[in-house]
Amino acid sequence: MTTSRSSAFVDSLVAFGGTSTTDRVLYVGRPNIPDREAVLARVGAALDRKWLSNDGPMVREFEEVIEARLGVRHCVAVANATQGLSITAAALGLHGEVVVPAFTFVATAHSLAWLGITPVFCDIDRRSHQIDPAAVEAAITERTTGILAAHTWGRPCDIDALDAVAARHGLQLFFDAAPAYGASYQRTSIGNFGRAEILSFHATKIVNCGEGGAILTNDDEIAAAARLMRTFGFADTDLVTSIGTNAKMSELAAAMGICSLSEFDHYLDVNVRNFEQYTSALADVPGITVVPCEPNTGINYNNVVIEVDPQVAGIHRDLMLEMLTAEQILVRRYFWPGCHRMEPYRSLRPPTDTDFPVTDEVAARVLSLPTGTGVEAGDIERVCHLIAGLVEHGAEITRRAPAGTGSPP
Ligand SMILES: Cc1ncc(COP(=O)(O)O)c(C=O)c1O
Repeated sequence: MTTSRSSAFVDSLVAFGGTSTTDRVLYVGRPNIPDREAVLARVGAALDRKWLSNDGPMVREFEEVIEARLGVRHCVAVANATQGLSITAAALGLHGEVVVPAFTFVATAHSLAWLGITPVFCDIDRRSHQIDPAAVEAAITERTTGILAAHTWGRPCDIDALDAVAARHGLQLFFDAAPAYGASYQRTSIGNFGRAEILSFHATKIVNCGEGGAILTNDDEIAAAARLMRTFGFADTDLVTSIGTNAKMSELAAAMGICSLSEFDHYLDVNVRNFEQYTSALADVPGITVVPCEPNTGINYNNVVIEVDPQVAGIHRDLMLEMLTAEQILVRRYFWPGCHRMEPYRSLRPPTDTDFPVTDEVAARVLSLPTGTGVEAGDIERVCHLIAGLVEHGAEITRRAPAGTGSPP
């Protein structure tokens, strides 16, 4: 590599005054939009029926499709996964402390804190980024009543090991499966593990309702309690039997969800294709690793996550993020900086560097890349070309970046 070649690439970067060759903006989590006519027909049917919420037929249909597809006894549709997690924690009678991973979307912890339960963080496995069962066990105290594990990146965590920990300590185990629709563990669909698993159908998920979620369980009592709680505790007209909230899914959201579910196979095909293209295009880029899948799991490939090793790549993840963002490639550093470093948790228990070293290391290295139906092969080629160039010229870019740019905070 010559200095002049190096400068030409660096000079061409938007961050250094270059002009982009495209006006396409690439997003992480851009929604998969199902067939418009199908969605509008279902929305029209709801309008004609004048039935927009409260146990409508489309919500029930949505639940039945999921029950059948995932082979789970109960699907309780809710307004979003965060509400679904809180309702499930309440239905399980949790209190005191519940162990959660430090490396997850903050809703995992907030859903418990909202109920006055203390989320107690633990570290993750270095390779898979999933909650570490040994760290869970170490975090258990006499106040612990449950374990809320997450299927991070929509990939199943080590369910067998967590089951064993929960059984040994007599704890309730449930799963934040927000991004994991369509995933499986040892050939059984996610939705069938622990006391319950909670899915999200937020716009960013492979199947979406705009906003939506579902509590999946094979336990009749949990399902019955969740159904009551999502609708203010009403057991019948004018009959309230317990405390509840409003977490009902609307008919309009269910209309979107049913149409989205019907296109799942297509979304999965696109995601697999995108994942394979990223994996092969980045295979020889030093310091860049596409986070691999674990054996014995099926996944929906809705998250393409790379790790940037700054020593080998010669560029820090944050500087790479800045360079790509300037090119209108809006990559995300999920779940930086880790829940333990977000409020209110960081003030309640000021974090140290030795608390969750794996979470800290992973959170400083990961980047989520654009995928889904809004991304084309040419887009991925462009993203990978840029990443390879940023690595090849990492030293020069780091030198030329304004002081403080892209440096780890
Ligand atoms: C792991 C995890 N938990 C919870 C949530 C919250 O889901 P919702 O937006 O449906 O409340 C998300 C959303 O991205 C998530 O990724």
